[in-house]
Amino acid sequence: MHAAVVRHFGDPPRFERFDDPDPTGAHEELVEVVATGLHPRVRSQADGSHYTSTGQLPLVPGIDGVGRRADGTLVYFILPETRFGAMAEHTVIDARRSIAVPDGADPVLLAAAMNPGMSSWVALHQRVSFRPGQSVLILGATGSAGQLAVQIARHLGAGTVIAAGRGAARLSAMAQLGADHSIDLAGDPGLVARDLATSAGEVDVVLDYLWGPPAEAAISPLLGGRGDRSRLLSWVQIGAIAGPTISLPSAALRQANVHFLGSGQGSVSPDGILATLPGLIDELVTGTFSITVATRPLSQVESTWDAPAAGPTERVVFLPGV
Ligand SMILES: NC(=O)c1ccc[n+]([C@@H]2O[C@H](COP(=O)([O-])OP(=O)(O)OC[C@H]3O[C@@H](n4cnc5c(N)ncnc54)[C@H](OP(=O)(O)O)[C@@H]3O)[C@@H](O)[C@H]2O)c1
Repeated sequence: MHAAVVRHFGDPPRFERFDDPDPTGAHEELVEVVATGLHPRVRSQADGSHYTSTGQLPLVPGIDGVGRRADGTLVYFILPETRFGAMAEHTVIDARRSIAVPDGADPVLLAAAMNPGMSSWVALHQRVSFRPGQSVLILGATGSAGQLAVQIARHLGAGTVIAAGRGAARLSAMAQLGADHSIDLAGDPGLVARDLATSAGEVDVVLDYLWGPPAEAAISPLLGGRGDRSRLLSWVQIGAIAGPTISLPSAALRQANVHFLGSGQGSVSPDGILATLPGLIDELVTGTFSITVATRPLSQVESTWDAPAAGPTERVVFLPGV
């Protein structure tokens, strides 16, 4: 078969011949990969920087996708930690980590949206006791995950949704996705802090895709802006696209009832993640949420890898069978 193969960390994967992986475990089966997404998590898998990386090479990247079983039915699958990923004509799935795709569902949409969508879907279902009417700030709302988070928070009944990110044009589109207010984090720092304090000081949940300097700069204004500082603020760390660390003043933890917690592989068990996903698939299939997608044949993996996306928030999906 052909696969996208990484032989040196730092180089883009190349489209090469590669041996089919063998299913060995009781729940394993070989599937034909129909569509698989190029998510940030896949990039960090392919360059060896993800916290789950074992450093072993060669590897075929790709953490999820839609596959066709031997009986012709389609499944959405999430792969366990493996060097034989989804960016291949065939991969081995674990049946316990796969979900039947409903008839008529678009495999490309699921391959594009499940990973970014589950970030907020799982966080709001599994990591916080989210209740309709509560308000949510999305820090890093302009990416695929952030845009879906805006829609998902609204769909789950958020009373107020505030979208913070950078890029005026992209932020102005947030209202159509369900945001009540948007904040351009690239603006004047004093004005950004004031906007965060006045508009977002009363939020119940922060879904943080950024971490790094923007999250660090947002903490004091958000906590300082709260009318009742003893009211719980759950700060859910989901991505670190702006930086892996922050400096956290101890006073922040004393001045308000803020809980910092994460949501991702490890902080939620595979079973916990999988239990929530059929609901997300149903909403995607019925068109509740939207995402911008660009498809490419897997044979173009090398040239696509480092090429700027045509649109700033496009999720690339590779089609191994094309
Ligand atoms: N824990 C989980 O379950 C989970 C699941 C899915 C994703 N994630 C993580 O969530 C993060 C976002 O994923 P994604 O799929 O949305 O990625 P994406 O589609 O590539 O979007 C990233 C967005 O972040 C913006 N950004 C980058 N640096 C920024 C900064 N300093 N300030 C403000 N905005 C900034 C980018 O804007 P520009 O175009 O201006 O750079 C872009 O709009 C990633 O770290 C990913 O690994 C976590």
